Amino acid sequence: MLIFFKYWARLKIIMSYYTKHIFICINQREDGKECCNDKKSLEIFDYTKKKCISMKLQKKGGIRVNKAGCLDRCSEGPVMVIYPDNIWYKYKDKNDIDEIINKHIINNKVVTKLKI
Ligand code: FES
Repeated sequence: MLIFFKYWARLKIIMSYYTKHIFICINQREDGKECCNDKKSLEIFDYTKKKCISMKLQKKGGIRVNKAGCLDRCSEGPVMVIYPDNIWYKYKDKNDIDEIINKHIINNKVVTKLKI
C-alpha cells in the first residue's frame, strides 16, 4: 500500500503543469459592494508576481501567479487560493505575502494564521 501512495504522489507531481498555481482575486465591483480590488489586491498581485519572478520561482514546472476574477469569498477578502493544495488565504499586506511565499510556496507549510 505504501508503494501505491508513493507512486501516486509522484504521478501527481508529474501530472501538474505547475507545482503551485496561485490565483489572486483582483475583482473590482462597480455596484459598491465589497471586493478585493478595493483592498489593494491588484498592488498585491503585482508584488507577488514580481517577487516570484525575482526569486526564479515562476517558471514552467514551478510556480505560476495569476490574476483571478471574483472567487466568491468577497466578504473575507482580499483572498487568494493556491492549487493543487486547495489552500485559501486572506492577507493584509506585503508582509503576509512574504510569509506565504517563504512558508507555503517554498517550504510547503500552511500559514495557519492567514488560512481561511
Ligand atoms: S471580489 Fe474577491 S472574492 Fe469576490
